Amino acid sequence: MNYLIGIDLGTSATKTVLFDEEGNVVASSSKEYPLYHPQNGWAEQKPEDWYDAAIYTLKEVVSKSGVDNADIKGIGLSGQMHGLVMLDKDNNVIRPSIIWCDQRTAKECEEITEKVGAKRLIEITANPALTGFTASKILWVKNNEPENYAKCRHILLPKDYIRFKLTGEYATEVSDASGMQLLDVPNRCWSDEVLEKLGIDKSLLGKVYESPDVTGTVTKEIAELTGLKEGTIVVGGAGDNAAAAVGTGVVEDGKAFTTIGSSGVVFAHSSNISIDPKGRVHTFCCAVPGAWHVMGVTQGAGLSLKWFRDNFCQDYMQKASEQGVDPYYLMDRDAETVPCGSNKLIYLPYLMGERTPHLDPDCRGVFFGLSAIHTKKDMIRAVMEGVSYSLKDCNDILCEMGVKVDEMMACGGGGTSKLWRQMLADMYECEVKTVASKEGPALGAAILAGVGAGIYKSVPEACAKIVKKDKTCSPIPQNSEVYKKYHQIYKDLYTSLKARYKELANI
Ligand code: XUL
Repeated sequence: MNYLIGIDLGTSATKTVLFDEEGNVVASSSKEYPLYHPQNGWAEQKPEDWYDAAIYTLKEVVSKSGVDNADIKGIGLSGQMHGLVMLDKDNNVIRPSIIWCDQRTAKECEEITEKVGAKRLIEITANPALTGFTASKILWVKNNEPENYAKCRHILLPKDYIRFKLTGEYATEVSDASGMQLLDVPNRCWSDEVLEKLGIDKSLLGKVYESPDVTGTVTKEIAELTGLKEGTIVVGGAGDNAAAAVGTGVVEDGKAFTTIGSSGVVFAHSSNISIDPKGRVHTFCCAVPGAWHVMGVTQGAGLSLKWFRDNFCQDYMQKASEQGVDPYYLMDRDAETVPCGSNKLIYLPYLMGERTPHLDPDCRGVFFGLSAIHTKKDMIRAVMEGVSYSLKDCNDILCEMGVKVDEMMACGGGGTSKLWRQMLADMYECEVKTVASKEGPALGAAILAGVGAGIYKSVPEACAKIVKKDKTCSPIPQNSEVYKKYHQIYKDLYTSLKARYKELANI
């Protein structure tokens, strides 16, 4: 039997899974690390923590599985997108990584738009300048920490830093590179024009591959550290959302998924490039060579519920540890007892600003309608509903753009919650399905490794063999009617608060 490994470098943890070639989990390991907020709206992580987690989890899966390392035919990488890793001439990390949800770069986005031109930027990078994307983070370091910029010899994305550590290669692949705002997305290569206009030297960037391509092999040193075989291939892999698409079989037109991880994403496959002229959703290359995807992003999805859990749910955490269950399971069970609309409580999930549909780094979270009748369980449900209203906004824009969605899958940590899936089905007014494997991005990355290793002929062929459908959640019309009323107020709230958010940010 052949085996494959998928590494998913998430925001809260790195998860590494060893699969057999039929997609069954043989061994899995994950390791958490901190997320730092040095200032309001800033978000950083340490690449050294990601590396430690990758080595720890690789070692665990290799030893736990008992598999002969010669039978592990390939490794695929998936990870949080957009984060900036800068290395000096000796390959040391220069500063902590400024990650995807960091919002410090509004000024640099203006600079990018001015230098490239709003229309030209969308033509080339398929997206307007965004605080979340890597280019503005690079310019922020250039403008604010010139001494760090001067030392920089290599710029890598989070998972590509792990690739460098595993193989010694400076490389990336089209799906993740699309989120740097330096890629010519229609032509799937670095844009000399954008790089030149922004004054970023191309030699700082890695070589761009398609997702299933072999980008390097495991070094002797890593083999000794992890138990992997020296020379095991490492393929391009994909950004977490493009990898989740492969892991849920969203690799053909008409297929879409919603993921609720730290961020929330509504993602639709597209064999032709399709760009929102208003820039409210992103168009990126996807992991299927020659195809793209369109996706809307909720900045604080699972991140909102985790924030609420960590700050206000010590009681749930205590009870969960006594009962040996996940605190989210207990929170979910209580939220289920609250009616749709959370007893007239609405949450705006803007803890880290918002992307779709507002592209606003300054907006912040709100509980609207708080009353003395409300208890913690109303607030938990309101958080879940607020995130779902935001995802509904993403889905509405895809529909408005005419992107065909015949089948909606759900995945990510939040996608395992029946309650959350029901909310999505009720709000989207369509069936929401899950796949049997819960390993979304890690499975997607492993499938890409299988294609690179020649075990499968193509990504769609591998998905057809491996990805199995599981449960279906159907919309409940009465719930849909209730949510429509709340969603309208949810949307109006942003409009009413927009100017106040700016004032608050400027204090
Ligand atoms: C996508 C995005 C997030 C991150 C973290 O544009 O920023 O989904 O990849 O998961």
